[in-house]
Amino acid sequence: MNHLIAPSLLSADFANLERDIEIINKSEADWFHIDVMDGVFVPNISFGQPVIRHINKHAKKPMDVHLMIIDPDRYFKDFKEAGADIITVHYEACTHLHRSIQAIKLLDIKAGVVLNPHTPVNVLEDIITELDLVLLMSVNPGFGGQKFIENTYKKTRDLKTLITKTGSKALIEIDGGVNLENAPKLIESGADVLVAGNTVFSAPNPTLMIKSLKGLSK
Ligand code: DX5
Ligand code: ZN
Repeated sequence: MNHLIAPSLLSADFANLERDIEIINKSEADWFHIDVMDGVFVPNISFGQPVIRHINKHAKKPMDVHLMIIDPDRYFKDFKEAGADIITVHYEACTHLHRSIQAIKLLDIKAGVVLNPHTPVNVLEDIITELDLVLLMSVNPGFGGQKFIENTYKKTRDLKTLITKTGSKALIEIDGGVNLENAPKLIESGADVLVAGNTVFSAPNPTLMIKSLKGLSK
């Protein structure tokens, strides 16, 4: 499969969201990556369902909603109604992860698990075949524009091995500090989806940057 690009709206200009959404609509990007932060699970607050509902009015590509919140099960239905096509929850935020994944799938949308940089891939051994997606954090969650953690290459390869071994259909998504330098090696290690916030929205020409990220090969 050719890799997918999911620009993160966290780095967009919130006062010109419609303009930045249109840039993504017209680009070669595949998904919108939407970061929800509660100020408890992560030390930052972003936005919630009302803003996502408005993004959904303009976004013409699937919305990949990354929940960095505690007790996320309370809100799955709200996020689906706001337009989420994919919901990912943190392993570190879900006591009953299997139940959370089933609850997302019951809404007929895709379900994924996110691992923080310190969480090894093998904790997913007994749930990997149930997942549509695994998101590996390549920075500590909470902020855009941070430095990529090099150990992510190894984790991506570990995850790819687990997926192949179990016959899981899960996609591997990488989030944090992705740029033109590390992206080829991530793709080579097995990444299917690359999230990029700062790299896209701080580029002089975001459309061209998305094209460059999309055009990379192993
Ligand atoms: C960080 C978020 C990321 C963030 C990535 O907690 O999950 O999606 O927007 O931003 P960059 O690509 O700038 O590291
Ligand atoms: Zn994210």
